[in-house]
Amino acid sequence: MSDKAIINLEGKSYELPVITGTENEKAVDISKLRAQSSYVTFDEGYKNTGATTSGITFLDGEKGILRYRGYNIEDLAEKASFTEVMYLLLNGELPTTDQLGTFENNLTQHTLVHENLVKVFEVFPTGSHPMGQLMTMMASLSSFYPDSLNPNKSPEATNLTIIRLLAKMPTLAAMIQKKGKGHPVLYPQNKYDYVTNFLYMTFGNVTEEYHADPVVVDAMNKLLILHADHEQNCSTSTVRMVGSSHANLYASIGAGIAALWGPRHGGANQEVLEMLEYIRDKDNGDVKKVVAEAKDKKRLLFGFGHRVYKNFDPRANILKKACDNILAKLGVNDPLLAIAKELEQAALSDPYFIERKLYPNVDFYSGIIYKALGFPTPMFTVLFALGRLPGWISQWKELRENNEDIGRPRQIYTGPVQRPFPDMKGRK
Ligand code: ACO
Repeated sequence: MSDKAIINLEGKSYELPVITGTENEKAVDISKLRAQSSYVTFDEGYKNTGATTSGITFLDGEKGILRYRGYNIEDLAEKASFTEVMYLLLNGELPTTDQLGTFENNLTQHTLVHENLVKVFEVFPTGSHPMGQLMTMMASLSSFYPDSLNPNKSPEATNLTIIRLLAKMPTLAAMIQKKGKGHPVLYPQNKYDYVTNFLYMTFGNVTEEYHADPVVVDAMNKLLILHADHEQNCSTSTVRMVGSSHANLYASIGAGIAALWGPRHGGANQEVLEMLEYIRDKDNGDVKKVVAEAKDKKRLLFGFGHRVYKNFDPRANILKKACDNILAKLGVNDPLLAIAKELEQAALSDPYFIERKLYPNVDFYSGIIYKALGFPTPMFTVLFALGRLPGWISQWKELRENNEDIGRPRQIYTGPVQRPFPDMKGRK
């Protein structure tokens, strides 16, 4: 017998269906409640609202589980490449050797961007934030592909747009870093794989041969995989919301980049590093003041807390281990790592953080690794976006394939009730 929820309102009883996911997650389906009773449900910040069904990513915040298409994040980070994970997220299955070869080959055919797009960089003032630039670049890409503005054209056309976008994102991200330094941009090289190509365009130099460090390539693959999807987070929900209006993919992803930029979401990775530097430079490495300020609600402890994880974020666990490893292999001795560990310990043993179940999230250790790899701090959230792109696209694709309804929440109005319009002289 299937479960039903009964809700009693003003003496009347309403039966609501229960839906169950493949991991036994349960939801009360309230979609007909308003039509039947005139009531809506209220859930500010969508803390308890399932906005869609999805077959892409499963996470259990209580148990600290994260899986893409059924595969544990620990296995994917250890055994897969970023392009394999991209393929998995987009298509639902891991690729065979042939499928991966074709996919990677398709990507290499679309890595160049229109030369006029390179000129867009010239209008940015020195020091403009890389995320603002990335948003502009994403919106600008749509201008160069007017044929892809209609997302309902055909599955083949959508697929081409997806490949173009995945292929051009590393080129744009690398250009942002190069232009920020005033260095000439490097054009993609088809001899390199996806991640090496990005590293080459970012850290290579027109004047010399580039030799990719396998430690760096491996670390970058891991970081991108760990960021690749995270079900209905703020930026992904934004991508789905914008996509639900049948806006094109570039516009939908541009909106996702905007949402990711916020310091409570992806922008936290930049904030974490700046916070650690602040502790080092202004507080003599003493972590206690920052913890006390966080408890007094004077500041957030960036890289701590998560809407869904009320236990360790499995991505943070992987990154903490990887961080030690990568820094040792690169021969980097960064005092910020010691400060981060001390801060983590101080927070994890403090009742404020224990009671609120606040644990390190993915952003806590990622910045220290990005720094060791040579990225400037303002680029960190761009790297998050590069990793999250296949997730955003897969979620957008799923929404479109399921022909989901336009996203349009309700509200409870709390403003003035109807009142007469006063003439100017009658206003106070
Ligand atoms: N530092 C100090 N206090 C915190 C923190 C923090 N990082 N996070 C939550 N709290 C406190 C809140 O003030 C609240 O306290 P109260 O019960 O006394 O009012 C309590 O913990 C519960 O927190 P909420 O804000 O209700 O949790 P919510 O789920 O809404 O927010 C969020 C989650 C936005 C991630 C929050 O923890 C935060 O702002 N963290 C810092 C920013 C950060 O690291 N963001 C990255 C998240 S991961 C990602 O997006 C990739």
